[in-house]
Amino acid sequence: MSLLVELSNVGRDFDGGRIVAVDGVSLAIEDDETVAIVGRSGSGKSTILNLVCGLDRPTRGEVRFEGRAVNGRAAWAALRASRIGIVFQNFFLLQSLSARENIEVALLGNLGGARQRRVRALELLAHFGLAERATLRPAELSGGERQRLAIARALANRPKLLVADEPTGSLDVQTSQSVMSIIGNAHREFGTAVIVVTHDEDVAALCGRRVEISDGRIRSDNRMTAMPTPAPTLRIR
Ligand SMILES: Nc1ncnc2c1ncn2[C@@H]1O[C@H](COP(=O)(O)OP(=O)(O)O)[C@@H](O)[C@H]1O
Ligand SMILES: [Mg+2]
Repeated sequence: MSLLVELSNVGRDFDGGRIVAVDGVSLAIEDDETVAIVGRSGSGKSTILNLVCGLDRPTRGEVRFEGRAVNGRAAWAALRASRIGIVFQNFFLLQSLSARENIEVALLGNLGGARQRRVRALELLAHFGLAERATLRPAELSGGERQRLAIARALANRPKLLVADEPTGSLDVQTSQSVMSIIGNAHREFGTAVIVVTHDEDVAALCGRRVEISDGRIRSDNRMTAMPTPAPTLRIR
């Protein structure tokens, strides 16, 4: 167990200081944790997540990854290409590409040629129960399948950290449970730390730690004494 990401007294303003989205947040996350960030809409959850993966820069304070301060776009881009997997709120799947190609794109820029990318993409699709969907485009997949594809793509480069912003937001209860059990399995099988933003307490309850945000500040930060029992794996349509 070692420190993976550390926010030290981080603040983020918008509109020249009129909006304080994040206000003095200090948060240290170990490489074996699953963390839920909860709070009402507009409380600053997505902004914190963006700061954690360098898609946004703090106005104040510092963000460290694996013990090092990360400076500049290029350094963050390199980290995201190799160490951090991101599942966005609206997936950002490339609509003109097949499921397999969506994963191959994530593997571009890393070692290996087209053949290796294809093999790895097919491996991941099979792992997430999407082997038969490889040639389909996102629009031809169900909501749950799209979500699994987004997670498969985020895990393509075997990241140390998986971040997900409201990954179950648009899904029904059953499908959200399976998405969470997939994320939980990724944690166990890939050894990936997980940070998930959610307003769903059932989703939060599946994580080992619950951080509550309101008005850009941490209101509570609790670790479960024992890891909760994972939800049963349910079939996704
Ligand atoms: N790019 C931006 N420009 C201006 N205001 C923003 C921007 N991003 C977020 N905000 C504001 O910061 C606050 C926190 O937003 P956000 O982090 O998206 O909250 P949450 O994800 O918890 O709903 C909100 O008041 C939001 O309107
Ligand atoms: Mg948000």
